[in-house]
Amino acid sequence: MIRIENLKKEFVTPSGVRTAVKGLDLKVGTGEFFALLGPNGAGKTTTISILATILKPTSGSVRVDDLDVEKEPHLVRQKIGIIFQDPSLDDRLSALENMEFHGRLYGMSRNQRGERTETLLHMVDLWDRKDDLVRSFSGGMRRRLEIARGLMHYPRLLILDEPTIGLDPKTRRVIWEYVHQSRKKWGMTVFLTTHYLEEADSADRVGVMDEGSLVALDTPEKLKKMVGPEIVILKTDPHSLESVRQYLENTFGIRDFHSEAPGELSFPMPTGVESVINIVRSVPASIRAMTIRTPDLDDVFIQMTGKNMVLNQENASPFHRVYRGKL
Ligand SMILES: Nc1ncnc2c1ncn2[C@@H]1O[C@H](COP(=O)(O)OP(=O)(O)OP(=O)(O)O)[C@@H](O)[C@H]1O
Ligand SMILES: [Mg+2]
Repeated sequence: MIRIENLKKEFVTPSGVRTAVKGLDLKVGTGEFFALLGPNGAGKTTTISILATILKPTSGSVRVDDLDVEKEPHLVRQKIGIIFQDPSLDDRLSALENMEFHGRLYGMSRNQRGERTETLLHMVDLWDRKDDLVRSFSGGMRRRLEIARGLMHYPRLLILDEPTIGLDPKTRRVIWEYVHQSRKKWGMTVFLTTHYLEEADSADRVGVMDEGSLVALDTPEKLKKMVGPEIVILKTDPHSLESVRQYLENTFGIRDFHSEAPGELSFPMPTGVESVINIVRSVPASIRAMTIRTPDLDDVFIQMTGKNMVLNQENASPFHRVYRGKL
């Protein structure tokens, strides 16, 4: 469904030329659910905008369902539904009018438009507010309407740029159920960027992008296995943290330390070294608690990019830092 070859995108800015995408190669199969992860500024939205024919590539080739995004943008647009990171609804129109307008743009018949609008507005729980102007909607309501609109014309490829940010858990679940139903019903392909790791976890494949390039690409299971068999979390006196870190690094070659709270140190257990218990017993400082868990996509992200996932909104935590060097 998607074939990206050696894609490069440069922006000319007052501070010079900025390369947002650096020679990206990526294929996504028909019906696949693909998730792209990456820290702020990695180039995700830029890649998505090129796929959606909103931006032109500087060089390289991008094909959607075997159509060239530069040569056949109109045909490409018919195939895709997009849910943008930034709001794109007309807030002077009602919910119903926004849906109606979109349906007409895509050449849907009056009956089709009516039926589809009703189903989708029920899905996102906005049917009761269908005649209200979008201007009067809350952020979450706008988001829901945007998602309903993206699905209106049965797209072959649904592109979602952080679609569920700011939505409550129930609405997120309902939306995902509907997206998955649509995948089953008409084999829709899904290309997602998200900061919610549990959303990426259910993808067929995950790509991790950093500074304009893909740094990892595989199934969520394989990516997690690459990090190591387990993650160890130690709780110690905050003053001893740096010496414990140095000891573990010098003695066992452990790397990719991470700290989410004062006095807490976590790291992936390297394969083929001592057992966790022996390592922890040998630490020349008092360890107050130890937890072992299996790696998640957050750990993959940290290891591949050396950065923590920077959440855009309410989930951002001041304690979320990654330490490669001194603590
Ligand atoms: N129109 C533009 N003009 C100049 N630079 C741009 C433009 N759009 C994006 N960039 C730059 O390209 C880089 C990638 O931006 P992009 O929006 O693709 O990142 P992102 O991965 O979507 O980040 P986020 O997680 O914050 O949404 C950034 O350095 C950004 O400043
Ligand atoms: Mg973005």
